[in-house]
Amino acid sequence: MYLGVDVGSISTDAVLIDNKNNILAYHIVKSGFDHKGAVNMAVKGVCEKAGIRYKDIIRIVGTGYGRRNVPDICKSVTEISCHAMGIHTIFPRVRTLIDIGGQDSKVIRVSDEGFVDTFVMNDKCAAGTGRFLEVMANAMDVGVDKLGEYSLRAAKAVKISSTCTVFAESEVISRISEGVSEEEIIAGVHNAIADRIVAMVSAVGIKEHIALTGGVAKNMGIKIALEERIGRVLVPEEPQVTGALGAALYALNCGDC
Ligand SMILES: Nc1ncnc2c1ncn2[C@@H]1O[C@H](COP(=O)(O)OP(=O)(O)OP(=O)(O)O)[C@@H](O)[C@H]1O
Ligand SMILES: [Mg+2]
Repeated sequence: MYLGVDVGSISTDAVLIDNKNNILAYHIVKSGFDHKGAVNMAVKGVCEKAGIRYKDIIRIVGTGYGRRNVPDICKSVTEISCHAMGIHTIFPRVRTLIDIGGQDSKVIRVSDEGFVDTFVMNDKCAAGTGRFLEVMANAMDVGVDKLGEYSLRAAKAVKISSTCTVFAESEVISRISEGVSEEEIIAGVHNAIADRIVAMVSAVGIKEHIALTGGVAKNMGIKIALEERIGRVLVPEEPQVTGALGAALYALNCGDC
């Protein structure tokens, strides 16, 4: 068994695979402020789900921005490489991967073998990330996991003109006080994110197939807003663990350890 752990800004994800690339179990916990604690919980959880002991794990690879908190690793691998390898194993025909996490979003051109040809990353600003969605969900007192349902019910979408998260939040609050429905505001928020992501996709160039990963891929409104702009977008069954899956695959194929 091989373990991959992706310590992201919002979630810490652990995936266990066997030596044939099959996922045995995965476990997702909140990263919070104690990354070591989150890693312990994620690893304990995934071992319990797979019914194995920690010492049965042959090799571990850590990834994500908090990867230095993963113990006993054979090596750490960048999350860009891990996402590319993870999506390649799930959908081998994907050449353009959009990962929208809590803190950053990335568009990756995936090679035929699951390596990274090129990528662009938005890591300086919350706009176009899961954090942007969380701020807006908070302003409207709607759960982040309910945003998709709300936007699907919208007859139209308001225009959110500000790209800055703080200004966009004020805009959302103004629309609420004007009596605009939450559905229309949320649809507008999704459009704003999709526009930012499409600008990043254009920088890399569209090459089919296209996939969407990260926790934000669970938001159906974002998937649809992207599809309206760039065509069909594939989403894995559990998009949030794609990076951890890639890390597990690097652990399996780690020739150096
Ligand atoms: N059930 C859900 N439905 C809709 N959106 C969700 C759901 N769960 C999480 N999200 C969104 O996913 C985001 C977190 O994504 P993810 O776990 O991929 O981030 P991360 O990997 O920790 O961050 P990063 O890669 O930027 O360090 C949250 O900010 C939220 O917007
Ligand atoms: Mg991530």
